[in-house]
Amino acid sequence: MKPSRSFASDNNAGIHPEVLKAIAAVNVGHVVGYGDDQYTQAAIGKFRKHFGDDIDVFIVFNGTAANVLSLKALTESYQAVICSDGAHIYTDECGAPERFTGCKLIPLATENGKLTLASVKHAYHGIGDQHHVQPHVISITQATELGTVYKPNEVRALADFAHERGMFVHMDGARISNAAASLGQTLREASRDLGVDVLSFGGTKNGLMGAEAVVFFNRALREGKNLSQNFLYLRKQSMQLASKMRFISAQLDTLLTNNLWLNNAQHSNRMAKLLEKALMAIPGAKIVYPVEANGVFARIPREAIAKLQERYFFYVWNEEESLMRWMCSFDTTEEDVQAFAEFVRETIGARQPA
Ligand SMILES: Cc1ncc(COP(=O)(O)O)c(C=O)c1O
Repeated sequence: MKPSRSFASDNNAGIHPEVLKAIAAVNVGHVVGYGDDQYTQAAIGKFRKHFGDDIDVFIVFNGTAANVLSLKALTESYQAVICSDGAHIYTDECGAPERFTGCKLIPLATENGKLTLASVKHAYHGIGDQHHVQPHVISITQATELGTVYKPNEVRALADFAHERGMFVHMDGARISNAAASLGQTLREASRDLGVDVLSFGGTKNGLMGAEAVVFFNRALREGKNLSQNFLYLRKQSMQLASKMRFISAQLDTLLTNNLWLNNAQHSNRMAKLLEKALMAIPGAKIVYPVEANGVFARIPREAIAKLQERYFFYVWNEEESLMRWMCSFDTTEEDVQAFAEFVRETIGARQPA
């Protein structure tokens, strides 16, 4: 029988019971739509508690929109966004960032999923040359797409480099909670305090039904405008303004209350470490990237993949390298991990040589 929980993605998990309860709790009476309601104001208040009073928060439906709209707010079409060659914005958003911003993305090779200052320096050129796009944003993903986490000094160095040149830093924080939990930092320490200007704050992968937010930290004037000044219009024009916003806001409010964000992230991170440990004991399975958040990347013999997938759905991250991505979630249990690892052991052990 197929187990009901798999390791395919942290968005294959359901909704945290507290969050579901919160959605039901705000399902009373009529309230004004489009964010002019007390639940949305309360959620924004929670963001201010975590990140400071002088921020602007805009709730959106999904992570792709949070990223695309963040970049749109920071750029003109002749500018460019420096990112990793494995960045979600570059590989997994169907060209939406390019389409909506008109900007070129400059993808760079990474070390374990992380942009390095050296490669960013190398890519930063052609400034003032009318033939070149003008790099204007460095976008980093925290935790990265490869389950690693930038250290605070690595983010700070990239931010300093950007700001010294009048550029901005965007953080794709689809898994910012996992990163902060991994680093033992608050959400603010893991983003704003390191020089991030705009954060795509992720909730969906950490137990919400579907809720993300764009958080602006930088209120500096650009061409006489606050960076977030026109964001209300951008969000609506991009079809990301929820009419019954209270049900999205209530989710974010709950995540940011009583450390739910932290408890969920710590749990999924711990399950990933457990999975890593179990896999390390299996001859034939090799962990490929440091396990620093809730994802485990392992190389396994090619012949074992189909058999494993008969019982567990998951994605082959890289066919050529026979590299698998296994994600843990807020609801992954130790028993899930042990049962999966045991099946990996059996399957690898029983495989027919190619
Ligand atoms: C690193 C990263 N950023 C952003 C997203 C947001 O994607 P979505 O638009 O599916 O919510 C994801 C989801 O897979 C992700 O892994």
